[in-house]
Amino acid sequence: MKISLAADSALLKPDFTFGVATASFQIEGAANSRLPCIWDTFCAEPGRIKDGSDGLVACDHVNRWREDVELIASLGVDAYRFSIAWGRVINRDGSINQAGLDFYRQLLEALQAHNIKAFVTLYHWDLPQYLQDNGGWLNRATAFKFADYADKVSRALGDKVYSYATLNEPFCSAYLSYEAGIHAPGVQNRKQGRQVAHHLLLAHGLAMTVLRRNAPRALNGIVLNFSPCHPASTSDADIRAARMADQYHNQWYIQPLFEGRYPELLSELPSNEQPEIAAGDMAIIAQPLDFLGVNYYTRTVYRDNGKGWFSDVPPTTPPLTDMGWEIYPAGLTEILLDINKRYPLPPVYITENGAAMPDTVQQGMVQDSERVAYFQQHLQAVEHAISAGVRIDGYFAWSLMDNFEWAEGYAKRFGIVYVDYTTQQRVLKASAIALRDCFASRTAADNKSANK
Ligand code: FCB
Repeated sequence: MKISLAADSALLKPDFTFGVATASFQIEGAANSRLPCIWDTFCAEPGRIKDGSDGLVACDHVNRWREDVELIASLGVDAYRFSIAWGRVINRDGSINQAGLDFYRQLLEALQAHNIKAFVTLYHWDLPQYLQDNGGWLNRATAFKFADYADKVSRALGDKVYSYATLNEPFCSAYLSYEAGIHAPGVQNRKQGRQVAHHLLLAHGLAMTVLRRNAPRALNGIVLNFSPCHPASTSDADIRAARMADQYHNQWYIQPLFEGRYPELLSELPSNEQPEIAAGDMAIIAQPLDFLGVNYYTRTVYRDNGKGWFSDVPPTTPPLTDMGWEIYPAGLTEILLDINKRYPLPPVYITENGAAMPDTVQQGMVQDSERVAYFQQHLQAVEHAISAGVRIDGYFAWSLMDNFEWAEGYAKRFGIVYVDYTTQQRVLKASAIALRDCFASRTAADNKSANK
């Protein structure tokens, strides 16, 4: 099982960055050496997580980070994307937790020793619970607390970090957490969802100024998720529904960054569902970005729900991943071309892309051929976007290893490395080997041209 790219592929050029990605709550464990976060609370509520699990141990990465760095290095990647747990580095009173900060500092130094660039995300959903008790993202003050956290971290870690992303997928922290109610804190309220989205974007804007000041040489930006919104039929109503969904789920988060305004759909929302926006907020949000992170997994199909709104039509026809998500690589090219046409994008990094599959270990091996095919097709989709003129500087596979998949618990495996949760043993899947060989073919090609 191989991943093969054309010899002249843009992805094989030496300045293209390949990496693997994780997030703090999903892998770290060692919950007693950080403050509790909203996901600890959510996991403790019966029925919230499918397998009843939590993040207390996860992949025990805080205790095994040295081996994990060796594992990452063994894959031959250029970069590692991970997130910092806010409640591991900042105490309740706003002061720095030195032990927590030292953990990340050591991790960064180990990566540096292997010549691996660190892509750090400051917020991948694990809001400290004490901030939630004070209103969480519904409270405007949380945006300022976030900027303060970004300030402290970037002063301490500065340019040891190659790239800072403020937020990972504000869509999830707003929509899934406050409208769909399937992510922590599990609220279902449209007005609150829109308010949270606004405060998240405000937090991003405030933090960008801080990052540019404290880490001027780092690539500073944000990570958004996109899913092309396709109509279920050719009816006008469904086409309109898909357009609304695109505005509500995709453009809502990107348009403010580049145009300092929300999509038109905002004005169509009943006034009691519109967020409160203070004077000057939109200008704060529209900070220049050094990079845009794009996460992509699948497309979504929408139909008119008969009440002037849209509802999604879950896919039923294969190929589907273990999450039930349609495998639709063309959607990645589509979304990249679309945002490139609409906005003056900075360099783009694909910060997450991958698939959950029902992996099992047999004779010490995991033959995840469907995941290998997924990567092959999606890397080609990235290549198509580059050929069509989008500047894409890197690609990160989600995920380095199997981990806590939020509301799905540990049942869904996204890793290119298998994790046996009883022994914490890590086993390279065929996809890890295929990616490793693909990265290595690049070095081989470089050496060849250098020797000529
Ligand atoms: C993304 C999240 C990431 C992971 C993947 C499967 O939405 O950013 O943490 O759970 O989905």
